Amino acid sequence: MADTLTITDNRTGKTYEIPVQDGAIKAMDLRQIKTGADDFGLMTYDPAFQNTAACRSKITYIDGDKGVLLYRGYPIEQLAEQSTFIETAYLILFGELPTKSQLESWTREITLHTMLHENVKKFMEGFQYDAHPMGIMLSTVGCLSTIYADAKRIGEEDNRRLQIRRLIAKVPTIAAWAYRHSIGRPYVYPDNDLSFTGNFLNMLFKMTELKYTPSPVLARALDILFILHADHEQNCSTSVMRGIGSSQADPYSALAGAAGALAGPLHGGANEAVLRMLNEIGNISRVPDFITRVKAGEGRLMGFGHRVYKSYDPRARIIKQTADEVFEVTGKSPLLDIALELERIALEDEYFVSRKLYPNVDFYSGLIYQAMGFPVAMFPVLFAIPRTAGWLAQWDEMLRDSDQKIARPRQIYTGAATRPYVTIDKR
Ligand code: CMC
Repeated sequence: MADTLTITDNRTGKTYEIPVQDGAIKAMDLRQIKTGADDFGLMTYDPAFQNTAACRSKITYIDGDKGVLLYRGYPIEQLAEQSTFIETAYLILFGELPTKSQLESWTREITLHTMLHENVKKFMEGFQYDAHPMGIMLSTVGCLSTIYADAKRIGEEDNRRLQIRRLIAKVPTIAAWAYRHSIGRPYVYPDNDLSFTGNFLNMLFKMTELKYTPSPVLARALDILFILHADHEQNCSTSVMRGIGSSQADPYSALAGAAGALAGPLHGGANEAVLRMLNEIGNISRVPDFITRVKAGEGRLMGFGHRVYKSYDPRARIIKQTADEVFEVTGKSPLLDIALELERIALEDEYFVSRKLYPNVDFYSGLIYQAMGFPVAMFPVLFAIPRTAGWLAQWDEMLRDSDQKIARPRQIYTGAATRPYVTIDKR
């Protein structure tokens, strides 16, 4: 039997056979369902795209019920344990794990692109002393489109690859300088002897020493956090990246837009909300009372629940282990005990169990970042650095996809019907 969906239109009595492929029907196949010759055809109404696949993608797979996250088929747990961010970025972008020599040349290429043009530095110096680092970061990424005018040639594969290398290499420098700017310290130039995350720590925290030596534990912890955040399929910011890219804008402009989407509290800002919540609770003895209030609908347990994951977010489990390793170096966050107690109670409580609410990636990541010395305002910037790899992979995949066109959703118009203009004296 053919894999089709039979739709009978009760208005006309007509029957339509709509092909079903990969668990989906093509929305455009519904257009043939019309009530009359001038009828435009049936549309679907799907605010926030909750049930609409906007692309076919080979990059990231999520099974929210089973708590599975794969990049190009590889489980996130194995990548977090055995890979590095720079290798994972290669995998996400190019589809396969690199050979030894591919990894060496990829690492070298990224290292060689970490410097920023001095004009970019001047641009960053122009920001207000208390400018939010996320605002500085996304504006500066947008500014790069004026420096690299060649980036407009998005149809040329070699050119796209060059811009991809530039962005992955330069975003950490921009992020670190945004942080230094916000605390009034001089910008630190990249040190090409260090690893990707070691150099990032150098640009953030170097003071008067001639050579900065990053803590291997903290550099590795950051690497793991970067692996976990590198891609998460068609989320809000990735859809923005694809949406802007679909107009054939250059990748700097598209990435600046994606970073803007990430800056919102419902997306990249949740770990900040977790820290605020833990601070508000303030003491482990107040946890039961807080849980009671959450259950009474007086607020949410931040860092719990997810639109897609209906079991333990696999990234949260890895982050919890990483937190222990970081705290051994930095000392334990006083908020950790509160977080552990919240998690213990929530995982046993019928309210959370029946709603399938488990810790998500943000429940512990803020505690780690705080212990490493990052102010809360830097949290979304720390998310944007690794997600740059995911955004670019999705952008590149979109440009190669012959099914894609400029993104242009339809609407259901609910405004006034045609009416004559009324001059101001008659209103
Ligand atoms: N605390 C208490 N109750 C909750 C929570 C929570 N964190 N999350 C959901 N619920 C309840 C909600 O009240 C509802 O209960 P009822 O059926 O009685 O009305 C039920 O669970 C279903 O909630 P929903 O709002 O329909 O679920 P959603 O899929 O629309 O929301 C979510 C997902 C992540 C927005 C939500 O779980 C939430 O607000 N969590 C806290 C914020 C947070 O941690 N966000 C980070 C998400 S992970 C970052 C990323 O990957 O981008």
